[in-house]
Amino acid sequence: MKENLSNLVRWYKKNARPLPWRQNPAFYPVWISEVMLQQTQVATMLPFYERWMRQFPDVESLAASSEEDVLRWWSGLGYYRRARNLRLGAKQIVEQGSFPTTLEGWLEISGVGAYTAGAILSIAENQAAPILDGNVERILARVLRISRGKEATYKKKMWKASAQLLALALEAKQPPRLFNQALMELGALICTPIKEPDCHRCPLATSCESHQRGQVDRFPQKKKRKVIQEVAETSLLLLDSEEKFWVCQAQEGTWRAGLWDLPQVFPKGVPRKALRFRGSIETHHVVTHHRITRTTQIYRWSGKVKKINASSQNGKWIHGEELDQLPVGAALKKAFEKARLQGFEGAC
Ligand code: ADE
Repeated sequence: MKENLSNLVRWYKKNARPLPWRQNPAFYPVWISEVMLQQTQVATMLPFYERWMRQFPDVESLAASSEEDVLRWWSGLGYYRRARNLRLGAKQIVEQGSFPTTLEGWLEISGVGAYTAGAILSIAENQAAPILDGNVERILARVLRISRGKEATYKKKMWKASAQLLALALEAKQPPRLFNQALMELGALICTPIKEPDCHRCPLATSCESHQRGQVDRFPQKKKRKVIQEVAETSLLLLDSEEKFWVCQAQEGTWRAGLWDLPQVFPKGVPRKALRFRGSIETHHVVTHHRITRTTQIYRWSGKVKKINASSQNGKWIHGEELDQLPVGAALKKAFEKARLQGFEGAC
């Protein structure tokens, strides 16, 4: 096995993708990239990462930003709590005066869990900290034929296995920085979730227990499926004569906090007589274990807009082009796009 771990690092040196934070693996770029990669694939996050680093080039600029601003630059990546936590984490780090250099220190930072802490310390500091994400878990399950039992026990076994492999890699004089990233890269490029990965190109194949037994398709064993909940919601697209529409900001403590969305009820002060119903459209989106069907009722406003006092209502009138400058969720973008394509007419 030890020899194979050295082969793995050699393979990585030849095949590693030239990702931007790899040129200069300092704390800040590595932290940002790891948080973006928590629920997002490399190809999707790259343009967001580049924009983010131009906008917030260091921890100080991020700490000084507003929540509205970070949500706007995160807009489109989803799981917005990650952006809020990055900003809070930046404030913690600036207050402390420097980046943490221990696992315990990183675990104190908002939004950083065991995986992210291990990834940051190994990549940025070459510390011998193990990692475990979906990619690494799949490799370990296949190489060591680890069966799934109770979720907590399975996770414990996995962390232990990751630490043991890292210890072996150290014995083989391989740096943790390269070894951990080699595992991530192997999971992304070769040991992928498909049934028949290209094991012939895998540097671990000769010590992979499931490959040796022709059982790669059986590992990792399947998790019991989480039940997907169907959720129905209604929103209102209220259009004025200049095609501006009313959006409001979700309150603190709600799951879309800080994001702008269409209202679900008529804002105060809207004279209902001035609104003409133009039909409704249906859009769908998925958030974690919820499949959400949104019915958006479209209304045209024939009177003057000024009757709604925006400042008193946590809302405002915007044009479609302004959507890109606001932190908005996928639900609003989808509904607005569909309504616009249909000339703001729905089925009655
Ligand atoms: N997935 C999570 N972290 C990663 C990293 N640093 N490189 C490639 N893929 C990753």
